[in-house]
Amino acid sequence: MNGKILITGGAGFIGTHIAERLCPKNKLVLLDNLRRNSLAHIPELKEHRNVSFLNGDVLDRKSIDKALSGVESVIHLAAIAGVSSYYERPLETLRVNLLGTVNMLEAAAASGVKKFIYASTSEVFGPDALWVDELAGHKIGGVSDKRWVYATSKLAGEQFVMRMGEAHNMACTILRPFNVYGPRQTGEGAVANFCSAVLSGKPITVYGDGTPLRAWCYVSDFVDAAVACLTRKEAAGQDFNIGNPREVETTLGLARRVARLSPGSEIKHKDVVRAEVRARVPVIDKARRLLAWEPKVDLEQGLTETLEWHRSQLTAAVK
Ligand SMILES: NC(=O)c1ccc[n+]([C@@H]2O[C@H](COP(=O)([O-])OP(=O)(O)OC[C@H]3O[C@@H](n4cnc5c(N)ncnc54)[C@H](O)[C@@H]3O)[C@@H](O)[C@H]2O)c1
Repeated sequence: MNGKILITGGAGFIGTHIAERLCPKNKLVLLDNLRRNSLAHIPELKEHRNVSFLNGDVLDRKSIDKALSGVESVIHLAAIAGVSSYYERPLETLRVNLLGTVNMLEAAAASGVKKFIYASTSEVFGPDALWVDELAGHKIGGVSDKRWVYATSKLAGEQFVMRMGEAHNMACTILRPFNVYGPRQTGEGAVANFCSAVLSGKPITVYGDGTPLRAWCYVSDFVDAAVACLTRKEAAGQDFNIGNPREVETTLGLARRVARLSPGSEIKHKDVVRAEVRARVPVIDKARRLLAWEPKVDLEQGLTETLEWHRSQLTAAVK
């Protein structure tokens, strides 16, 4: 398809899924410092003849230069993600997400990379992001709340990506994932948390009254969008909101669906202690038009497959 592809954060949840899709026909380098390790759940990917894994950091220019050797395209996913992480490690979140992105862009431009795909976030649209398209204004809460270090770092990263693309004639694309879930999500995520809870016989914890609204996007649909950006020239210089607006559900509704798939499960409510994003649903017309992309997996099917994966991990651990 393309020349050699570098996936930063390649050992992460989304990174391993993109790598799994691309590896049969592409040479891949996965750069990751293993802060999270979804790769441990798919050892055959690390062993694949087209894949080389590099344990390194996007804050370390030496690791980056080594990883970029002979690379034509970069998919930059490495980041500190997950709401608890923003609160526990605000400075690291800013450094990795912003300085790591600047490092990657500068090194990529210097080594002649042709395409650069950047994973930003739907959080750049702030706490009320209902039916947002790419032209919707960005909203970030006040600096007194650490919650917004992530969105701030990603939004500044977006500007760097766009401006570096223009300055160096690099085909840059921004993807904003809206609640991507699926097997091998090892960090935070409501679906992963709910599945783990029901399978370990614990109640599902829903924060607050459970009314926050999300559009749930199965990981294979997100991979389709990332692959379309690699292959379609229309993606150059564009930003895309990537999510599944047909599969909109509240967090309580999501908990009930997971509980139905695992009968006997209970749901309990806990007070919300952090700034909440009340609604997050994308308009995806631009991705439909320019990438010919359409999410295909409905929430019921996606949840069934994700729960099945969590069950298989438990069974494997018991053996
Ligand atoms: N999953 C979602 O719904 C979602 C939503 C919005 C944005 N995103 C973005 O998409 C990307 C992938 O997300 P994910 O869900 O796979 O998260 P993830 O945490 O599973 O993957 C991120 C990877 O980056 C690695 N990493 C962290 N710091 C690093 C560093 N300094 N150097 C090298 N590697 C480092 C981690 O070890 C991890 O494997 C991230 O940029 C994330 O911010 C994801």
